[in-house]
Amino acid sequence: MEKKNLDWSNLGFGYRQTDYRYVANWKNGAWSEGELTTDATITMTECAGVLQYSQSCFEGLKAYTTEKGQIVVFRPDLNASRMADSCRRLEMPVYPEDKFVEAVKAVVRANAAYVPPYGSGATLYLRPFMFGSGPVIGVSPAPEYQFRIFATPVGPYFKGGAKPLTIRVSDFDRAAPNGTGHIKAGLNYAMSLHAIVDAHNQGFNENMYLDPKTRTKVEETGGANFLFVTKDGKVVTPKSPSILPSITRRSLMVVAKEYLGLEVEEREVYFDEVKDFAECGLCGTAAVISPVGKIVDHGKEICFPSGMDEMGPVTKKLYDALTGIQMGRIEAPEGWIQVIE
Ligand code: PLP
Ligand code: COI
Repeated sequence: MEKKNLDWSNLGFGYRQTDYRYVANWKNGAWSEGELTTDATITMTECAGVLQYSQSCFEGLKAYTTEKGQIVVFRPDLNASRMADSCRRLEMPVYPEDKFVEAVKAVVRANAAYVPPYGSGATLYLRPFMFGSGPVIGVSPAPEYQFRIFATPVGPYFKGGAKPLTIRVSDFDRAAPNGTGHIKAGLNYAMSLHAIVDAHNQGFNENMYLDPKTRTKVEETGGANFLFVTKDGKVVTPKSPSILPSITRRSLMVVAKEYLGLEVEEREVYFDEVKDFAECGLCGTAAVISPVGKIVDHGKEICFPSGMDEMGPVTKKLYDALTGIQMGRIEAPEGWIQVIE
């Protein structure tokens, strides 16, 4: 297979149309036989549930070329089960989890020419998504749905790669108590657009959202969970019912404990304690683990001792171990890496 002629090392995190995507339709209570198609467009009724009431959810995962030249995907079964949770919460039909994983693999296989080469720093980002495609006018779940997966080659989510970020404490909330913060609903991201545009306009890379009820506890950013490192080297991550259960974060906690022998803690994290941490990172499929150098709370700065030039030492170890596992340099825990045959 000949690779596409792309400038792999200079890709940004953007959409680039690839050759094949997967489509399945839900109608009369059943999913159609899904298939690959070259058609990147969607035609639907003006009254579709997604267009009227934002009934949609999505996932994000990546395919990599390992050191040995195999193409692999990272823990797609967890994306399948998280999407099933999203669908149940949004009154959408679940796409069977085993078929989800097979569809992911089919899309990667069909677009193998777009999987960036080993060492380029780029990856093939996969975007499974589902939306209400049938008409609704009264507020109710749509009668028909479409499930799709497309692939797009991407570089780092944050420009500058491993350069520490500056984030601010947001006055906006991304999730309501007992709302949809724990699922990957498109509407959560629509809600965050004003906050992110405003943050960028003010010179910040991202928003730190606090818990919507008391505004005293750290939740997450618009697209990644937090990891903190204490001064004595413990890895701490916030626990909350309104944050997205990041697959990267769950994996990093295992890596920290099992591979690096670090103490790990998932617990409520009060904003007041953040100033006492030694390191801070944002973790997610797109972000991998991006170091945070500074958090600004209404003019008050918290500067982490790791500084604004490079990742803190523990963050770096976590980054190296996770990407080592993903790229096949370090042996992965059972089931984490699925090879595309
Ligand atoms: N939090 C939010 C709000 C996200 O959108 C994402 C991205 O998927 C994450 C966290 C990270 O999750 P994951 O590691 O599963 O990509
Ligand atoms: C991801 O990390 O896959 C995300 O979905 C984050 C963002 C691009 C929405």
